[in-house]
Amino acid sequence: MNKKIFITGGAGFIGSHVVREFVNKYSDYHIVNIDALTYAGNLENLKDIERKPNYNFIKQDIRDAGGILALFKTHRPDGVIHLAAESHVDRSIATPTDFVMTNVVGTVNLLNAARETWKDNFEGKRFHHVSTDEVYGTLGETGLFTEDTPYDPHSPYSASKASSDHFVRAYQDTYGLPVVITNCSNNYGPNHFPEKLIPLCILHILNNKPLPIYGDGKYTRDWLFVVDHARAIDLVFHQGKNGSSYNIGGFNEWKNIDLVKELCKQMDEKLSRPSGTSEKLITYVKDRPGHDLRYAIDATRINTELGYTPSVTFEEGLSLTIDWFLKNREWLENVTSGNYQQYDAEQYGK
Ligand code: NAD
Ligand code: TYD
Repeated sequence: MNKKIFITGGAGFIGSHVVREFVNKYSDYHIVNIDALTYAGNLENLKDIERKPNYNFIKQDIRDAGGILALFKTHRPDGVIHLAAESHVDRSIATPTDFVMTNVVGTVNLLNAARETWKDNFEGKRFHHVSTDEVYGTLGETGLFTEDTPYDPHSPYSASKASSDHFVRAYQDTYGLPVVITNCSNNYGPNHFPEKLIPLCILHILNNKPLPIYGDGKYTRDWLFVVDHARAIDLVFHQGKNGSSYNIGGFNEWKNIDLVKELCKQMDEKLSRPSGTSEKLITYVKDRPGHDLRYAIDATRINTELGYTPSVTFEEGLSLTIDWFLKNREWLENVTSGNYQQYDAEQYGK
């Protein structure tokens, strides 16, 4: 088929798994990874595929409209899978404008470039925007987010993602740009940057540091193994309906405190420490402002329309994740050696 696909944010956590899925599965596609390599982007995530003939990397910031348009004109991609973003809620509370510039303006720059490049013929083209369930706001104790749940974002991160989703739909409605959107629940897995709950706790258990639980720890998230997210993106990119949104999730809700206790249990076993050792590190800390109580995805549409189900249970996925981090301590050291350490000290003290 010889398609050329741009994947933005391909050096990040989820993006690197999407790049790997596409490069390994579609030898007749050419995958161009476009990433600015911020603190969250790391080409070490792609060492195993960097020499494949159907892959190349281009360092480019999506905030630079001219640079993005030039790339589109030169490469004339058939499809875009857009993951580049500022992705951490706590950082969005500290520096909201960065989230507007990358997540909103950056997305509009990509939409403009796609529209300009494809304007004579949208046939066979697709702009896939990767988004989050956080756009729907928060649930109470019951209920699930469907694709029809009204948007109600609360954090600067989720507001920026909601805004970018609206722009993507507006470009379909106004200009006929062929788009799909996926809204996924919380991911976890290999290469997860250790500012998010699961990898942060793995890192802190290894270093005997406190495990910071915001508020009462009863906040609830729906967790999906990152490889299963990449598989879902592949399905929707190829088979999703133009103009549709698909929620992606694993029907796998955990209260933060229960999840961290499960993680402590598995870490003690794998590190051959007496049971209960890691749990002693749990420390309740000041809550996140505007903290959403509960996210939970109804993934019926992607299941019934596209036959999607996750491939691993949470316990299996968590075990694979811990094993990866234990085998890749050098990766952890490298990503924690620079900016992240400063951020960690600011967030949680020394
Ligand atoms: P991440 O922070 O690990 O990676 C983001 C990547 O984008 C990095 O490689 C970074 O260098 C790149 N990037 C950031 N700003 C850029 C810019 N201005 N120009 C070019 N590249 C830039 O994020 P992630 O967790 O892998 O999330 C990827 C996407 O998936 C995001 O759009 C996020 O909103 C969405 N998402 C994430 C989750 C989750 O649980 N992590 C869940 C649902 C959806
Ligand atoms: P996080 O991994 O930051 O993802 P998101 O905010 O996008 O859901 O946080 C997951 C949950 O864990 C969320 O309820 C906030 C909570 N949390 C803590 O309790 N302590 C922490 O140190 C972090 C980073 C998160």
